[in-house]
Amino acid sequence: EKTWVRMVTAQTPTNIAVIKYWGKRDETLILPVNDSISVTLDPAHLCTTTTVAVSPSFDQDRMWLNGKEISLSGGRYQNCLREIRARACDVQDEEKGIKIAKKDWEKLHVHVASYNNFPTAAGLASSAAGFACLVFALAKLMNAKEDNSELSAIARQGSGSACRSLFGGFVKWNMGKAEDGSDSLAVQLVDEKHWDELVIIIAVVSSRQKETSSTTGMRDSVETSLLLEHRAKEVVPKRTKQMEEAIKNRDFGSFAQLACADSNQFHAVCLDTCPPIFYMNDTSHRIISCVEKWNHSEETPQVAYTFDAGPNAVLIAHNRKAATQLLQRLLFCFPPNSDADLDSYVIGDKSILK
Ligand code: PMV
Repeated sequence: EKTWVRMVTAQTPTNIAVIKYWGKRDETLILPVNDSISVTLDPAHLCTTTTVAVSPSFDQDRMWLNGKEISLSGGRYQNCLREIRARACDVQDEEKGIKIAKKDWEKLHVHVASYNNFPTAAGLASSAAGFACLVFALAKLMNAKEDNSELSAIARQGSGSACRSLFGGFVKWNMGKAEDGSDSLAVQLVDEKHWDELVIIIAVVSSRQKETSSTTGMRDSVETSLLLEHRAKEVVPKRTKQMEEAIKNRDFGSFAQLACADSNQFHAVCLDTCPPIFYMNDTSHRIISCVEKWNHSEETPQVAYTFDAGPNAVLIAHNRKAATQLLQRLLFCFPPNSDADLDSYVIGDKSILK
């Protein structure tokens, strides 16, 4: 019998939270304790490209990440595969003469090949782009009819932050109320054209992998941090509304003030956790001081900073002029080939390596 292969390739950028997700109320379904808001990077920068293939000749599901086979047995992969398979529809590819009936998807196996366009070891390529891309590509392969928000609720079960990478521009992840997680999904606030003068620069402080995984860190914070409880109940609901306003009005002053405050509170929660978690290091702190000093010397802030579960700084400049000045200031504070220099900068599609 003649065999065949059907393939789909997708590309998904990573996203950076400006109102952070930290803490799960349900670990299996990955339901958060608060809403979060992020900006999706340009696909040319930090992104994942994933090809998924199906063929009657495949005898098991398999996956390769950056060319190396990895196990699909983990619960997160299994949840994503199961949820998409449950939504698979008939496929008819006239050109290739392929016909797959809805019920065939139960027996068919997939192969997945995924690449990050940035060294995974840099501690930057987060799982966000990876799971978003996997879910999106599988949905296309299996002709699932769900829209991106519905797919985001599936990507969420791979990695929480992944749900925000199904859209470009600014994206909100609604924590939702339902126990089954059906309303814990991402929605686009504005598209990538809405505020396109922003320039995002990543200062790579250290290319080492983080020491505390976000899963362990969040669990410890939920169990031990009173500040996290206060943050989730009292701070984030208000701050999320203010951030949505700032984004809609392109109000950079408010945007920067809210983003910096939220990053700092997230890292304060980490310190408030038992045992305490240190994601930022001395260099991260010096970058904060450098930006704060500059912002306070101007009439309104020029740059926002935000740090995830690691020491690298994500710097969001108001415009090109502010980005140029920021680089000059960083080079002055962290002279190349000195004791205090940074590993690299990533600006747009260029990476300035020392
Ligand atoms: O989705 P995870 O488990 O990789 O957690 C991401 C957590 C932060 O990056 C620190 C914050 C966020 O909202 O992305």
